[in-house]
Amino acid sequence: MQFDFDRIIDRRGTHCEKWDTMEEHYGVSPEDGLPLWVADMDFRPPQEVNDAFARAAEFGIHGYYGGDADYRAAVVEWLLRRHGATIAPEWICLTNGIVNGVNIAVQAYCSPGDTVILQTPVYYPFFGAVTNNGCQVGVNRLVLENGKYSMNFSELEELCDRGARMLILCSPHNPGGRVWSREELERVAEICLSRGVLIVSDEIHHDLVFDGHTHTMLAGISEEISQKIITCTSASKTFNLAGTMTGNMIIADPGLRARFKEQMGKCGLYDHNLYGPMAAVAAYTHGAPWLDALRRYLRGNFELVDKAARRMTGVTNMELEGTYLAWLDFSGTGLEKGEVIRRIQAEARVALSHGQAFGPGGEHFMRLNFACPRGMLEEALDRLVLVFS
Ligand SMILES: Cc1ncc(COP(=O)(O)O)c(C=O)c1O
Repeated sequence: MQFDFDRIIDRRGTHCEKWDTMEEHYGVSPEDGLPLWVADMDFRPPQEVNDAFARAAEFGIHGYYGGDADYRAAVVEWLLRRHGATIAPEWICLTNGIVNGVNIAVQAYCSPGDTVILQTPVYYPFFGAVTNNGCQVGVNRLVLENGKYSMNFSELEELCDRGARMLILCSPHNPGGRVWSREELERVAEICLSRGVLIVSDEIHHDLVFDGHTHTMLAGISEEISQKIITCTSASKTFNLAGTMTGNMIIADPGLRARFKEQMGKCGLYDHNLYGPMAAVAAYTHGAPWLDALRRYLRGNFELVDKAARRMTGVTNMELEGTYLAWLDFSGTGLEKGEVIRRIQAEARVALSHGQAFGPGGEHFMRLNFACPRGMLEEALDRLVLVFS
């Protein structure tokens, strides 16, 4: 089946964060700028998803959502079919997205002053989830070796021994695109769970893994691990449905689940967006061929980024194993951070996410979202090559 990922669709003026707030965030006008920052894609989802939206529009009544058995069944089936993990439908707690779910998890399981471990550089809203809820970040910095990240297990052990309460794991890792191996995940689980440190495993990028790599669900490793952790998944990254703000916090242990639900109640989170589950059911039911074509297209885009980076003096592109977020190291340019940003934003008129926001280790990096039509990506890369060669 053919899918048209090359088609450029003008998203400007459609309440699109990526385009319509680019100027506010980066001073780059949507008139002549290109947004390769916030992590959504400039592609339409599988046709069946838009058909479901069209049917809902035709039906025309948009009241409160209820009756989520089809959604739960679709999630269960997807995780079994694509990831070999068996979960029960009742383990799923629906949230308004994963950032929402991670914040509620910190509130539910931690007390003010507790340490929550983050493996930096990491998806920056995790920092807010920790500090906005009165906890402190325990930095477990990733080690950059031979051009890719690995975990610093001895530091992780120390942080756990010093009484950390929780680890927010990012798997696959954003940024840097590591798809953690089964062995790495077993080690993390062993270190944390033997010391009573709860793991919240954010696996939102689980479906966006390049050929040759396999995502291992932490909860799929053993029954014992699955009973002691919380897994976050969503159809939103996979099928470009981020605006529907729907995520799953999958919690097997009844006690942990009850505490999570109690905290959801304290946040008044009883109802859910009508369209998120509806779109996800269509995507999970029909979207597998689209997803496999997308993954190949994204790999091709990654190779374009790689080629362009080789033409930029002093810039190194990390080899990704998954995600659509290239992680470019500008330290070899010898330029001040401000000058790197000025060239990207003011001269190339491209918006990239600033690495500094991802915490310790991210300072010299910029994150480039290459989930856009190839024509647009080539234009952005040409501009970047021009200002860094
Ligand atoms: C690791 C990670 N978690 C969560 C999210 C966002 O999740 P949501 O939009 O469901 O809050 C992102 C988005 O880029 C992400 O990279």
